[in-house]
Amino acid sequence: MSTSATKANLSLSERMADPKWWRQAAVYQIYPRSFYDENGDGLGDLKGITAKVPYLKELGVDAVWLSPFYPSALADGGYDVDDYRDVDPKLGTLADFDEMAAALHEAGIKIVVDIVPNHSSDRHEWFKEALASPKGSAARDRYIFRDGKGENGELPPSDWDSVFGGPIWERITEPDGTPGQWYMHIFAKEQPDFNWENPEIREDFLKTLRFWSDRGVDGFRIDVAHGMAKDLSEPMPMKDDLLARAHGTDGFIDGSHPFWDRDEVHEVYAEWRKLFNEYNPPRTAVAEAWVHESRRARYASPEGLGQAFNFDLLQSDFDAESFKQIITDNLVHAKESGASSTWVFSNHDVVRHATRYGLPKGGSVAQGTNAAQDVTGSKPKGQDGKGWLLAGAPQEELDVELGLRRARAASLLLLALPGSAYLYQGEELGLREVTEIPDSERQDPSFFRNKGVEIGRDGCRVPLPWTPEGPSFGFGAGKAHLPQPEWFKDYAVSIQEGVEGSTLELYRKALGLRRQLQTDEELEWVETGNPEVLHFSRPGGWETVTNFGTEAFELPAGTVVVSSGPLEDGKLPADTTAWVVRDA
Ligand code: BGC
Repeated sequence: MSTSATKANLSLSERMADPKWWRQAAVYQIYPRSFYDENGDGLGDLKGITAKVPYLKELGVDAVWLSPFYPSALADGGYDVDDYRDVDPKLGTLADFDEMAAALHEAGIKIVVDIVPNHSSDRHEWFKEALASPKGSAARDRYIFRDGKGENGELPPSDWDSVFGGPIWERITEPDGTPGQWYMHIFAKEQPDFNWENPEIREDFLKTLRFWSDRGVDGFRIDVAHGMAKDLSEPMPMKDDLLARAHGTDGFIDGSHPFWDRDEVHEVYAEWRKLFNEYNPPRTAVAEAWVHESRRARYASPEGLGQAFNFDLLQSDFDAESFKQIITDNLVHAKESGASSTWVFSNHDVVRHATRYGLPKGGSVAQGTNAAQDVTGSKPKGQDGKGWLLAGAPQEELDVELGLRRARAASLLLLALPGSAYLYQGEELGLREVTEIPDSERQDPSFFRNKGVEIGRDGCRVPLPWTPEGPSFGFGAGKAHLPQPEWFKDYAVSIQEGVEGSTLELYRKALGLRRQLQTDEELEWVETGNPEVLHFSRPGGWETVTNFGTEAFELPAGTVVVSSGPLEDGKLPADTTAWVVRDA
């Protein structure tokens, strides 16, 4: 086995200084409010992350990505930011951030933070100023205000829907108490959209990116990277017209949508790239852009953000043909863009993959952002009958054991792919979606704005179980901010640690091997003669085989270094992945 290009050969300082560190990084997403609660107030915090650095180190991840930890009223789980250059006092202080960053870096773990540029919160000082200022003022021009239609401006400027449901426009009361203008919010009404044509907005985000880069942040995850640029010239198209012009649910492929994926947004990223490249190593960025695959490369180009999420696997059933096609296509797209590919099954916006794969095929599509990011800007994808699956599907259809087995097989396959692996907290424990949250305890705006038709994203954001006992299964000394189900105790970190075959040990082993085995970014498909079995090899003799079928499959010759489940008489059983290193 060739080890010449593996990360295991680099010293920690070489690894940290490597400008290409991100290309094949395993990045672990932390949803800070639900990771670990150090002060016992029921909410995870930055000190909690610092306390768990040894856990992250042992897990073997190269980087963490932190969902927003900025001051926020949590109208959208922190994606409603009051102040981009501070820490939410409920989560800590800037000093806590520095301490956390130092601890992570010392452990050889890079830090990626979330930047939310499409909108601020309605508590941002600029939005408050806009409300208090007259129509046409410079303060209003930082956001998107328009007069309403109708005789007295009582109708919204267009008939578009927001992604969380309800109109995209909200009417304000003018400072003199009269009903006034309307402002645009693609998401919740507490998330007013910035006007990116205003140079002050551009300047301010450069300042924010510099602020965190100077504090040692290594990279950025750009929220709704395909938003920001807008063409609201009159007449604004009707939502049915937009729907008719969209390519299914994949959006527009010509950049002509009034607020999604417009070409002008790349001017902003070109400017950001210059800033990123002033640092050594250059700061990285990954775009969250739910765009047609033909348009992804622009976000991922070296002159732009440098990398973009592909959510194709996340939206696929557990299916050999579909996985193979997606992997093949995305490796081509990544090469074209100059980036490495990204792979992801779960995040804070979608139903966890251990649940998706335990549901009948065809319905196991993710909801959450998938629904929320409806690219047509007209109706949530969920209304097509897929996204709201968890609300509609009888839970007895969920096969918990099958879901976990497939999730483990899929994750082991993902960790073998060339490119960056984005993992979401709790998947390494085999957690599935929590569906039993009472309506009264739900927090997600998509639940409220859709009047409960979509149950929203709280089920993947429930605080982690660290121990099988305690008021919140070791999450903290208090009651967790979202209720944890009783079955969480069986998935606690402490009961999986050191237990061979546990999901945690599977991830640890795979991540460790990934570092040793990883060579270059090539992948070669090996013909298996069975359409239900995928086999690919990475240079250096590392083979990955996944059995999506029902019959056990003969593995290639070599040593099985890890498998997602026990082998059956040396064969690879259904819903299982194995990594095989060919004997020298
Ligand atoms: C984030 C979501 C958030 C939305 C609005 C997304 O894509 O991942 O959690 O609700 O952006 O900021």
